[in-house]
Amino acid sequence: MVNPVGIHPYGVNIGIIGFGTVGTGTVKILLENRGILKERLGFEINLRRIADLDIERDRGINIPEGVLTTDVNALLNDPHIDIIVELIGGIRPAKDFILKAISNGKHVVTANKALLATAGDEIFTAALQAGVEIGFEASVAGGIPIIKVIREGLVANRIKAVYGIINGTSNYILTKMTEENVEFPEALKEAQDLGYAEADPALDIEGIDSAHKLAILASLSYGISISYEDVYTEGISKISPQDIGFASELGYKVKLLAIAKDSDSEIELRVHPTMLPKEYLISKVDGSFNAVYIEGDATGSTLYYGRGAGDMPAGSAVVSDIVDIARNVRKNAIGRVPVITRTFRDVRIKRMDDVISMYYFRFSALDRPGVLSKISGILGNYNISIASVIQKGRRVGEAVPVVVLTHEAKERDVRQAVNEIDQLPVVMDKTVFIRVEGEEDISR
Ligand code: HSE
Repeated sequence: MVNPVGIHPYGVNIGIIGFGTVGTGTVKILLENRGILKERLGFEINLRRIADLDIERDRGINIPEGVLTTDVNALLNDPHIDIIVELIGGIRPAKDFILKAISNGKHVVTANKALLATAGDEIFTAALQAGVEIGFEASVAGGIPIIKVIREGLVANRIKAVYGIINGTSNYILTKMTEENVEFPEALKEAQDLGYAEADPALDIEGIDSAHKLAILASLSYGISISYEDVYTEGISKISPQDIGFASELGYKVKLLAIAKDSDSEIELRVHPTMLPKEYLISKVDGSFNAVYIEGDATGSTLYYGRGAGDMPAGSAVVSDIVDIARNVRKNAIGRVPVITRTFRDVRIKRMDDVISMYYFRFSALDRPGVLSKISGILGNYNISIASVIQKGRRVGEAVPVVVLTHEAKERDVRQAVNEIDQLPVVMDKTVFIRVEGEEDISR
């Protein structure tokens, strides 16, 4: 077993489990940048073993003899391996491998956001008790070192809000729909071809992958238990080119936004399609790129941008974790930057019903005198104040889209109002609503 406070005169030994996309990027970086890493570290990172079920496929890398194995226990039980790098994804058997590595006294690096969002508290606690480190920079926003930003760069700040575009697949789809008026299925197919999508793309388009990542960011930002179950999650599969078009006319872009916010002593945790003013920097983050905006009480607004997926950006994050841990091993500084606060803050997660936002509505209403007053009457009864209205087209006696932007309103009121409006005989289809971020601006 590795002695975490021992001296490793010949470098730090690592074993990688999973030789897929991220594994390949990690190995490429370790081999191609070996020299520069050694210069920066003053010692070597030795790639001792790689375990994968498929060790025949050509990944375009020359792997030294004896490194590849199909036997994961050859890594987990190897007393010379200091750091286990878990890159297979999914909950099982990844969780078993990680817990075994920890109980064998090994440090762990993982890119596994789904696992950390589900069992992160258990894994971090096990690591704390065993006196080993967990690196998980690659779990959120790939090549953007956002975990380090929150844990170290912004440590002086109370975090007021985190807004993230943290799913490249969804951002790619929305960008295609916006710029090329492509329908959803075609855009999804293109995103999958790029290789960024999860094995089950529902995780991307239904917002679950973003919710996993948000739970991790929120835990670090607010010292709360990782509460993936508490994230309100809505995906982009119901967003139509029509709504993207109206949003654009009104001066907005539609993004799948992950939001964690300190709000009246509660924390808001939500992922949903969001209309953002076009002029915001984060609105300009297109294609498969990610961005995270963080507002600290001392720093004010900060924004981090880059590639959130792909072999090399994710590999960069994995290698940075390996380097951090290797440095701590060599300097007897294990646990120098604690992953979690010792006691979680007891903060309530705001119920979605209580969230306050501005809203975009698209009603499918008969083009007939008095219809708008019926709709606005119901909105008024629920204390929802209208900021602007546009009716598109003129088709007397037929359904036309009536688009309404509101001032700030409460989610519970919005849902009840929409329910009531959808019962009106003059409303021909279910009302679409999208939450709107930005300053209240009646001139819009
Ligand atoms: N499926 C993820 C994405 C991969 O599209 O962003 C990176 O976590």
